Amino acid sequence: MKIFLDTANVGEIKEGVALGVVDGVTTNPSLIAKEKRPFRPLIEEICSIVPGDVSLEVVATDFEGMVKEGEELAQVATNAVVKCPLTKDGLKAVKYLSGKGIRVNQTLCFSPTQALLSAKAGAFYISPFLGRLDDIAHVGMDLIRDICEIYRVQGYRTQVLAASIRNPLHVVDAAKAGAHVATMPFAVLEQLMKHPLTDIGLKKFLDDWAKLGEKI
Ligand code: E4P
Repeated sequence: MKIFLDTANVGEIKEGVALGVVDGVTTNPSLIAKEKRPFRPLIEEICSIVPGDVSLEVVATDFEGMVKEGEELAQVATNAVVKCPLTKDGLKAVKYLSGKGIRVNQTLCFSPTQALLSAKAGAFYISPFLGRLDDIAHVGMDLIRDICEIYRVQGYRTQVLAASIRNPLHVVDAAKAGAHVATMPFAVLEQLMKHPLTDIGLKKFLDDWAKLGEKI
C-alpha cells in the first residue's frame, strides 16, 4: 500500500519524503487555505518535492469550470493528479478529463454506488472519506472494504485511496482491506513508527553498552 501525506505544508512534505516512505501527497482547498501562501508557487513547490502523485483539487462546481481548472492543474507538473468532487458534474468531468489522458482523483466519496460510477467514468483514484463517516457513526472502513471488493470482482482498475484517515488503526485496516493508497496527516505518519517498547528497548541496550565502555 502506498502512503500519501494529506497536507499542503511544505515542511511536513519535505520531512516525510526524507523518511523515504512517502509516495505522494493529497491536497484539498481547506489544506491549501491553511498555508496562507500564493496558490500556484505553493503547488509547484509541492510537486517538485514529492516523488509520486500530488492531488490538486478543482474549486469549480460546474462541468465546464471543472474541466478548465482540471486542464490547468494537470499542466502544473507531470505528477499532478486532478481532484474532482463526486457530483453529477464531477463524474462528467472525470469522464472527459480521463478521456484526454488526465489522471483524476475523485474525492468526497461516501458510498459504494458513488465509487462504482466513478470507476465507470474512468477515475484513476477514488477517495472514500472514512474518518468523516466514523464522525457520523457510520463505519467508514466498511465503505473501503465494499469498494475494494466491488473493484476486484468487477475488474475495475481505479485505485482505492483511503482518505480522511485519523489514526494508525485506520491505516492498518485500510491495508488489510486492500486499499492501494492511504493518505494521512503528518501526525498519523509519525504515530505509525512509534512504539513504547522500542523506546524502552533502545534505552536498555544503550545503557548496557555504556556500562561496557567499548566503541564500535
Ligand atoms: C483527501 O484527499 C482529503 O484531503 C482528506 O483526507 C480529508 O480528510 P479530513 O476529513 O480529515 O479533512
